[in-house]
Amino acid sequence: METSLPGHKSPTPTNYPPGPAGRGIFGTARQFQKAPLDYLTQIHQEFGDSLRYRFFLNWYGYSFVHPDANKHILQDNNANYTKHPHPSIQILKPLAGEGLLTSDGDFWRTQRRLAQTAFHRTQIAEFARTFVDSTVARFDRWDSQARSGKALAFDEELMGLTLEIAGKTLFSIDLTGKAEQVGHAFDRANRLITDLSSQPFALFTLRIPFWPSTRRLFANTRQMEEVVYGIIDERRRSGEQKADLLGMLMEARDEETGEGMSDRQLRDEVLTLMVAGHETTSVLLSWLFYFLDRHPEVRERLEAEVDSVLSRRTPTFDDLPHLRYTRQVIDETLRIRPAAYIMTRWAQQADTVCDFDIPAQSALVLCPYITHHLPEFWPEPERFDPERFTAGKDAERPRYAYLPFGGGPRQCIGNSFALTEATLLTAAIVQRFRVRVDPAHSAAMDPQITLRMKGGLPARLEERR
Ligand code: HEM
Repeated sequence: METSLPGHKSPTPTNYPPGPAGRGIFGTARQFQKAPLDYLTQIHQEFGDSLRYRFFLNWYGYSFVHPDANKHILQDNNANYTKHPHPSIQILKPLAGEGLLTSDGDFWRTQRRLAQTAFHRTQIAEFARTFVDSTVARFDRWDSQARSGKALAFDEELMGLTLEIAGKTLFSIDLTGKAEQVGHAFDRANRLITDLSSQPFALFTLRIPFWPSTRRLFANTRQMEEVVYGIIDERRRSGEQKADLLGMLMEARDEETGEGMSDRQLRDEVLTLMVAGHETTSVLLSWLFYFLDRHPEVRERLEAEVDSVLSRRTPTFDDLPHLRYTRQVIDETLRIRPAAYIMTRWAQQADTVCDFDIPAQSALVLCPYITHHLPEFWPEPERFDPERFTAGKDAERPRYAYLPFGGGPRQCIGNSFALTEATLLTAAIVQRFRVRVDPAHSAAMDPQITLRMKGGLPARLEERR
């Protein structure tokens, strides 16, 4: 069956998924550029779980949201689906280089094996202290904020906190001196990449070194690089071994070859972990505190759990198994507003996904946000309900109906790191404060690289004790 889309030159009759052709030479590009997530949601409602859209001349992109398609692409036939040369991945390369997020094939496999040790459970248990200490260190300032009754941008507080934690766990630096340089340069680079992602000719402008946004991106990247190379150099010279992620990456040896990572590889991995690791967690926490404020019954139950598990102590890694409801609230927040709301792949060979054909060399989009709102797996999908994650409930739905951390071999390497961080930060904050969100705040979604909240999270803090 050929679809109603005109213009695709195919030698054999093919069963392509249905979808919009858009208008003019740019097809649907303009709609995507204006409101990518709204548009994708709208066309999936119109055409179903599998679709293709024309985005330029007679080039098509493919989008799948059914759990069976997610499983096929991310797990069963993952070898056919690479990251390179998808444009959304190319845009990250000036910053993330050939780090874990953006590399492919044997190179990626070796790097992943090397990095895995740094994310071992025992290691995360060590980091847990940093998560809590960094949070508690802000309490005095938040206390005075609470007493003054003044509003603050709580999303920025959370972003600063997760960035500080990334700096400390990655290379043991405090938010002083160097870390500030990294932090600000990272923030600017992040914003530049977000802006570039919405420009149709971003890949072209990235090749022009004197183009203003390219120049700024490279300048910020260089600033971060200098710091990272400086730290690597210092460590190599002093022979000092630190129990941070960089230390572990530097010590990691390939089991087969016995080789370690070059400075360039270390630079790519460190900057990748900064890109992938801090904004996602802070966006998750912003949404969590928003939903807690709007659902007092959930907030009260969470406070009761935190109070009874912790009494008056600060939380530790050993408390995690007892903070079950806290974890349900996190899981539900990641369902309803998945920080990583979109994933992209490139089909190397032609394939069949959910009975539809896709040609070799096609760009693909998977959208956890839409999958997490499919009513056949998530009744009343816009209702915030942590009960969906009570023990045993996941047996009632397919594994790939829920994929906030992706799946298959490329599943998020920082998954346990992030969940531990989010659980401990939530418990520590809830134990001490109530976050009262501005009642007029609409909390519309602002899909950037991550699924941010429009207008941030304007809130007042109330002390609980
Ligand atoms: C709530 C927080 C987080 C969310 C929602 C999240 C989500 C994801 C997702 C969906 C992927 C898969 C992307 C794909 O397949 O295209 C991914 C990959 C990755 N994440 Fe996370 N992530 C989070 C936190 C972290 C943290 C804390 C770190 C590191 C400290 C991290 C490091 C990475 C890396 C390195 C990859 C690439 C893995 C690979 O391809 O081998 N993430 N993340």
